[in-house]
Amino acid sequence: MKTRNICASTLIFFAFSLHAETGYKAWLRYAPLDEPALTQYRQLTPAVIVALSDAGPEASARDESIRGLRGMLGRTLRAESAIPKESAVVLGTLDEFHRAAPQFHLDANLAADGYWLKTVADGPLHYTVVAAANSRGVLYGAFALLRKIALGESIANLDEKQSPTVPVRWVNEWDNLNGSIERGYGGLSIFWDNLHAREDLSRVNDYGRMLASLGINGCAINNVNANPRVLAPDFIPQIARIADAFRPWGVQVAISVDFASPQTIGGLDTFDPLDPKVAAWWAAKADELYRAVPDLGGVVLKADSEGRAGPSTYGRSHADAANVVARALKPHGGVLFYRGFVYDHHADWRNLKNDRARAAYDNFHDLDGKFDSNAIVQIKNGPIDFQIREPASPLFGTLPKTQEAIELQVTQEYMGQARHLVFLVPMWKDTLDFDMHTRATPAPVKSLVHAFVGVANVGLDDTWDGNNLSQANLYGFGRLAWNPDLSARQIVDEWTRLSFGLDRKVDATIAEMQLSSTRTYENYTGPLGLQNLTDITGNHYGVKVEASENNGWGQWHRADDKGVGMDRTMATGTGYIGQYAPAVANLFESLATCPDDLITFLHHVPYTYQLHSGKTVIQSIYDSHYEGAETVEEYVRQWESLRGLIDEQRYNQVLAQLEYQAGQAEVWRDAVTTWFFRASGIPDRKGRVDHYPGRVEAESMKLEGYNVVDVTPPEDASGGKAVSCPAAQCAATFRYDGAAGWYTLHVEYFDQMDGVSHYRLLINGQLIDEWGAAAQLPTRTLDSTSSTRRLITGIALRPGDQIRIEGKPDGRETAALDYVEILQK
Ligand code: GCU
Repeated sequence: MKTRNICASTLIFFAFSLHAETGYKAWLRYAPLDEPALTQYRQLTPAVIVALSDAGPEASARDESIRGLRGMLGRTLRAESAIPKESAVVLGTLDEFHRAAPQFHLDANLAADGYWLKTVADGPLHYTVVAAANSRGVLYGAFALLRKIALGESIANLDEKQSPTVPVRWVNEWDNLNGSIERGYGGLSIFWDNLHAREDLSRVNDYGRMLASLGINGCAINNVNANPRVLAPDFIPQIARIADAFRPWGVQVAISVDFASPQTIGGLDTFDPLDPKVAAWWAAKADELYRAVPDLGGVVLKADSEGRAGPSTYGRSHADAANVVARALKPHGGVLFYRGFVYDHHADWRNLKNDRARAAYDNFHDLDGKFDSNAIVQIKNGPIDFQIREPASPLFGTLPKTQEAIELQVTQEYMGQARHLVFLVPMWKDTLDFDMHTRATPAPVKSLVHAFVGVANVGLDDTWDGNNLSQANLYGFGRLAWNPDLSARQIVDEWTRLSFGLDRKVDATIAEMQLSSTRTYENYTGPLGLQNLTDITGNHYGVKVEASENNGWGQWHRADDKGVGMDRTMATGTGYIGQYAPAVANLFESLATCPDDLITFLHHVPYTYQLHSGKTVIQSIYDSHYEGAETVEEYVRQWESLRGLIDEQRYNQVLAQLEYQAGQAEVWRDAVTTWFFRASGIPDRKGRVDHYPGRVEAESMKLEGYNVVDVTPPEDASGGKAVSCPAAQCAATFRYDGAAGWYTLHVEYFDQMDGVSHYRLLINGQLIDEWGAAAQLPTRTLDSTSSTRRLITGIALRPGDQIRIEGKPDGRETAALDYVEILQK
């Protein structure tokens, strides 16, 4: 229906609805509908709502329906416990309907958690039925009904059955018990504080509601790099408190455990998985856990990975390790997720046959069929580690007798850490839809997995994730976990309209930005399968092209003066490509068929190699970085076109974020292109690289107090140098000698994490602008992470003008400057 027509926005509606929003409500805003929609839905909505059970998720379903309808329709339904002799919304499981309303004839085969939205006519009365296989399904159905209304879809003659594609849909939170979050960008833990569950767990309850609205049914509440204490007897009640907060939303709690726990917590002299004492310890521990949390979902285990204890200590296999825990959980109905993220992080980089990408397959494929039925191998989407472009992990295609989960990273660890707009659904879809060719019929990854796991890492920030647009990733993960056949566009359309309202322009603009954002980010951080050219041994945020090389972590791209890429071929390389079924292996092995997007991931090619796109590798690297940076500038303009159509608070937050991102994309562009220019010696055909008209280096200005310093790596600063202030105040001045006109001044300065330096810009002594370097960027040094842009628009310049920047350091921050660029904009 008319969704978009009925929602043609009127000024009155906007005046009413554009109050400030923090983002806390995410996609569950239940904003008031506009007039035509209101009339229509009010006619269809009865006055009574009945939940056939008054407990658990069904009670939540009833309360949520009342809340949502009140928000959207301005009507508060009466809650009753029996089906009334008037039209009503009725919620219940199929069994409850059979008992309470056999006349409705609700017979259906629904999978666990599945639901059925149905309009049932009984004489002149109409019942809007939400029926489900279990009480959790009732809750999911209630959310689906509310979503339909929020999206302006018809609820007149409902008959829609939905079942999730996989039974286990979990998020993992990498929260430490001290309240910090590993790779979390939305503030501190909602679960933990100072080695205890938080006093106030209302945020957990609210998070449970968000998860339930997407059909997510489990949440692992502590870091996979698990603190053994989580299994200490005196700690277990803390887990129980969190489980209580989640329970009304059907979200089962899970925990990550340390494999050495039988020794560290249990006091045994061993944690050998084949030792009967150890098996007995895990069994007793599971009994203890389930006494405290009878509906515990299960356990996540990272073993023999990145320094974690594992079965290799005793020469045992991953199956041995998984099974000893899985068997302990089995009598209680729990599952064990065993992480497939196992590799040697001390690999010898000089050996060209070594290859981290091979590791998951090499470690697990011989174990197929050896895992117990409640053990699930949790496999990251790609063979390395959540990089912007990786092929689907070959492991998905090689464990036909094993339960597999796909692990997707919702938190933007390598993806701009919630400071950059990167909508991950298109990337996830690439993997989910990738045909592994492991059987005669299509074998896309989504058809091979039995569970979805998303590493979410939400925090206490109002936005949960660190910014408003990143919420689309959690939404998208949940929707895909429910139905991986949904398209990225469907998902982003839903999310945008639920989060920002039904204005067509808003919807179209945000959806386009989101959908193109993954490619944009790839363009400026790691095109052609280079993986993210970031500081992989440090913050995983700023540019460091060489950080991946000459160390054991194995994220090598092997760029040198002649070419770039890992030779993973069967013929001359590491043989990684041979881990795929022949149809895929042949596609990847031959340069003639290997997709450009993966070329340097799979092959070592000269910079002069011509791609399918017709460009050389080096020119493609240059072009994509310029294209990526330009697209982010375009996002700023696109967002500005929504002024007045979005509440001011979120509008301003996103605008600031995009402006920052546009500056950061230029930092990436310049650093990466400079690095490759220096390595290859091949100039940019378009003359842009290493040539920046209008740019005045700080080190060439007249300096008062400022010292010229070398920046490491040199490509992280324009000209490899910056100026840094060792005194209480410094200044850098230069004379403008260009044509008279209106300009934008771009000041590139460094915003380190400890301190808020103060800057003033003056022209001929007139103060034009001042600002503080107050962002929280993850670095203490002058580098690409701290490098930040200040744009000052609408400046009239005349030849001979004196442009002066004064910097006042604060704390350990040195009010450093890189350059000023004078732009004709
Ligand atoms: C990445 C991430 C780590 C994390 C690891 C994992 O390497 O940087 O913080 O522990 O993945 O998935 O186990």
